[in-house]
Amino acid sequence: MALVRIRLSTSDDCSALAELRYRFRAQTESATETKSVFLRRCTSWMKKRFRPGSCPWRCWVLDDGKRVLGHVCVQLFEKIPNPVNDEPEVHAYVTNFYVIPEMRNQGLGKRLLNKALSWCRARGTDAVILWPSPASKSLYRQYGFVAPSDIFELRYGALQPRSRRQAKG
Ligand SMILES: CC(C)(COP(=O)(O)OP(=O)(O)OC[C@H]1O[C@@H](n2cnc3c(N)ncnc32)[C@H](O)[C@@H]1OP(=O)(O)O)[C@@H](O)C(=O)NCCC(=O)NCCS
Repeated sequence: MALVRIRLSTSDDCSALAELRYRFRAQTESATETKSVFLRRCTSWMKKRFRPGSCPWRCWVLDDGKRVLGHVCVQLFEKIPNPVNDEPEVHAYVTNFYVIPEMRNQGLGKRLLNKALSWCRARGTDAVILWPSPASKSLYRQYGFVAPSDIFELRYGALQPRSRRQAKG
């Protein structure tokens, strides 16, 4: 295998990242947006958020010198300052974790996840949350992720198409 390094994404990666996002999501569910419209929208969205040094997003990519082989993203979200317990004041949301099919099961996904989780830990994160796919649950459990008993989730999203959700802001 060619040397694969992990680095933060740059603006130049965003069209490749949007392509991979399309592959990731449209492989299991049927797309309701044409590919070209999606790629334009997603590339533009990513360019605004995945700038080096920008907050609250980070995106790390696997790079073999020729192309992007995978990625993982983290969004930090703040808590209100708390005067007790020295409680950490930021949570992290891990998302868009993907390795291209032909490069799977060689340890690359774990390298990506290690990178993202070490960064969360170094930032003094409290909870790291994610929504696992059924097949990835065992992988996350190896890192200590568990299904919590102390949070509530209210889901509006599954009931409404995206156009209506966006209209609500
Ligand atoms: C999850 C994923 C990023 C792992 O990448 P990878 O490079 O294959 O990971 P590694 O080689 O480091 O580790 C392999 C582990 O991933 C798990 N895995 C393998 N195929 C998988 C799949 N299709 N989906 C989820 N997990 C998978 C294996 O169980 C393996 O665990 P083990 O070490 O206990 O056997 C990759 O399988 C993938 O892109 N899957 C599709 C997208 C996805 O499901 N992402 C997670 C959404 S929450």
